[in-house]
Amino acid sequence: MAREFEIQVNGKASRVHAEPDTPLLYILRNDLQLNGPKYGCGLAQCGACAVLANGKPVRACMVPLEAVGKTEITTLEGLGSPQNPNPVQAAFVKHNAAQCGYCINGMIIAVTGLLNTNPNPSDDDIKQALRHHLCRCGTHMEILAAAREAADMMAGASPLSSPLGEKVAEGRMRGSPSGVENRDFHD
Ligand code: FES
Ligand code: FES
Repeated sequence: MAREFEIQVNGKASRVHAEPDTPLLYILRNDLQLNGPKYGCGLAQCGACAVLANGKPVRACMVPLEAVGKTEITTLEGLGSPQNPNPVQAAFVKHNAAQCGYCINGMIIAVTGLLNTNPNPSDDDIKQALRHHLCRCGTHMEILAAAREAADMMAGASPLSSPLGEKVAEGRMRGSPSGVENRDFHD
C-alpha cells in the first residue's frame, strides 16, 4: 500500500507518496523530476541509473524506496550545474565524452564515487570502476580520458600525463574517430 516517505536528495528533504517497493529511480525521475539518472535495463546491468548513496555509487533501479531511509542520495543534478560543474562533469564536457549521452550519468557518478574513496586512482582503478557501465555509442576512450583528467585535476597534476592518456592520444593519431579499437573498458 502506498504511504508517505521522506528521503534526502541533493541536500534537501523531499516527501513522496508511493508504494514501498517503488524503485528509487522512478521516484527520482517521476516524483522529483530529477532526470539525470536514466532507465536503461532496470536489472542493475547497464549503470545508466546510478546515483550516489552516502557518496558511493548504487543502481537506483534496484533500490526500493523503503530501503532509502536517511541515506543521502546525490544525483547528477546534485553534483554541479552547467554554470558550476564539478571537476568530473567539467572533464566530460572538455573531452566531448558523449554521443547520445544516455550512459553518461552513470559514468560521471561512477567516476565521482571512485574519486570520493580513491583520490589518486590508477588507470586500472578507473577501468575497474567503469567496468560494468555500458556505452553503446563507443565513446569509451573519451570517457576514460575525461575520468583520467578529472582525477588529475583533483590531484593537481597535468592532464593526459598517464599511460592511459598517452593511449588516448595515440588512438586519435591513428585516425580512429574516437581512438576506440574495442568497445569495452578492458586493455
Ligand atoms: S537501469 Fe539500472 S542498471 Fe540499468
Ligand atoms: S554515449 Fe551513447 S550510450 Fe554512451
